[in-house]
Amino acid sequence: MLETLGNAPLPVVILVSGRGSNLEALIAARDRGLPIAILAVICDHADAPALALARAQSIPTQVLSKAAHPDRTDYDAALARMIDALHPRLIVLAGFMRLLSTDFVNRYLGKLINIHPSLLPAFPGLHTHRRALEARVKEHGASVHFVIPAMDAGPIVSQVRVPVLANDTADTLAQRVLSQEHRLYPATLRLLWEARVQWHQGRVLFDGQVLESPLQLTAAENDHFI
Ligand code: GRF
Repeated sequence: MLETLGNAPLPVVILVSGRGSNLEALIAARDRGLPIAILAVICDHADAPALALARAQSIPTQVLSKAAHPDRTDYDAALARMIDALHPRLIVLAGFMRLLSTDFVNRYLGKLINIHPSLLPAFPGLHTHRRALEARVKEHGASVHFVIPAMDAGPIVSQVRVPVLANDTADTLAQRVLSQEHRLYPATLRLLWEARVQWHQGRVLFDGQVLESPLQLTAAENDHFI
């Protein structure tokens, strides 16, 4: 459980693999006053654009490539050593494309969050936008959830909903969802910093009560939840 930090920013480590647009949104939000301290960005690909983004902002970066640790257990142990040396309160997955082992996830239970481009529990896994179109859903979106060993199945904290338009392609839908992810992640991190959202024994507490259904980010410009 994250306890309230007073005025101190929430120390986070951000894990990325590729493009880094969510990382960019978190950095921009920090620069506008979101109280997070980005201790480091850790990436599994040395040439990921996300790394360049972090370096341009003078955020410490570390690369942990699969080539260095082909065995998943070794990889996750090395990743845990990197993280533990930084002493974060929260580990933020922002497009980190590796499956994490059960031991790793259990080590950080309640301190590990992810953003996923669908309205979970719908469409866990990859290609969510294409699958949403194929399923002819009327609404799609993104979810922020605590990570548990089962993939994309952890307790959901928050969501943002996006209408599916008649002429959407997977790319146009992905783009609209992504721009909302960029609102959802910072707004959710603020709730965690405020300790309004907490992990408690495998459930999400919101203002001290068990959250029965995910918080929904409003469509309005100001990032409020309902
Ligand atoms: C996002 O769609 C996120 O929801 C998913 O991976 C993608 C990462 O994009 N987990 P980016 O690297 O943040 O641009």
